[in-house]
Amino acid sequence: MFKTTTSQSGRAVHLSFEGEVIAAFDGDNVAAALLRVGKLQFRTAAKNDGRGPYCMMGVCFECLVEIDGKPNQQACQIIIRDGMQIRRQQAPNITSEL
Ligand code: FES
Repeated sequence: MFKTTTSQSGRAVHLSFEGEVIAAFDGDNVAAALLRVGKLQFRTAAKNDGRGPYCMMGVCFECLVEIDGKPNQQACQIIIRDGMQIRRQQAPNITSEL
């Protein structure tokens, strides 16, 4: 699926994903940092379908996460910062008929 093409020479930083501390490298984007440690599901869509990064270039919006309490952040477009708190974004509970 995804594979890094650069060396991991950046300064080590730490972020939190769903409460789990994850080591990452300064300069990575959020999606790359999470994928590197095997986190594939970033959000849910209707009916709890799991979604994760697809394009890695800001087009598909499949990588939306909540960062430091702010929803709808494109993980592939945001460079990590030490201490970031990242959570999966849950789809709204749709109960009406569509
Ligand atoms: S992976 Fe497609 S917009 Fe982020």
